[in-house]
Amino acid sequence: MRYKDVSNSLKSFSPPADWPGHLFMLPEEAVRDIYHFIIKNRLRSCIELGTCFGTTACAMAAAVEEIGGGRVVAVDKHLHQPINPKVIINHIGLAENAIEIVIDELGYNWYLADLIRKQSHCGVVCKPIFDFCLLDGAHEWECDALAFYLVAKLLKPGGWIAIDDINFNSRMMFPEEEHNKYTDRELDAFQLRMVYELAVRQHPDFCDFHTTHGGRIGWARKRPRILKRILRPR
Ligand SMILES: C[S@@+](CC[C@H](N)C(=O)[O-])C[C@H]1O[C@@H](n2cnc3c(N)ncnc32)[C@H](O)[C@@H]1O
Repeated sequence: MRYKDVSNSLKSFSPPADWPGHLFMLPEEAVRDIYHFIIKNRLRSCIELGTCFGTTACAMAAAVEEIGGGRVVAVDKHLHQPINPKVIINHIGLAENAIEIVIDELGYNWYLADLIRKQSHCGVVCKPIFDFCLLDGAHEWECDALAFYLVAKLLKPGGWIAIDDINFNSRMMFPEEEHNKYTDRELDAFQLRMVYELAVRQHPDFCDFHTTHGGRIGWARKRPRILKRILRPR
């Protein structure tokens, strides 16, 4: 499905009048750029950690469909009501199975643990399955640093990760009435920037670091596998 059709469809969606949400959790140009990034790099197997209403997951699924099909897994703790990925998939007209929706009340790190176990042979080697991961969920250092290390195992060599909101802190993002649940240090730290700078950028298996969308999204690529030529003695 072309981006123009996805975008028009998303814009024509009319939520219930009393719904306080906003369909685009990422700026629309970021959703568009992720769509085109998937197409340009032919990233057929994608995972989104933190799906919310499903807007970006649907754009990802539309891009994967456009390059001939593949897999999009979308993980969230909640199936939000009344708007969720099932509702948006249906509205856009994507195939019902275009997104594998995973709701895990314990969060994506538990799901990733199950997936790593499933992909592990003889208990030691984890076979990677994803070409692209968008991390946009908890926005917390502990949870998301672990999410990165786990999903890194599942990214194929040459695969990409994008982390949203590296230029926001919890004081800016979380509703004020929730601030009393956190310490000032937690509220003021740019926790996803910590993940990007301390975990992603220093990981020996990653390269091609850059940020986009005004420093909001941090990108990294898992190093492609280098095929070593076997030199035969003459
Ligand atoms: C900012 S929204 C995601 C927006 C979505 N990526 C998009 O572009 O439309 C964050 C979502 O992450 C989910 N979330 C937060 N912590 C999570 C966790 N540990 N595991 C799974 N989902 C989580 C929340 O329920 C929420 O729906």
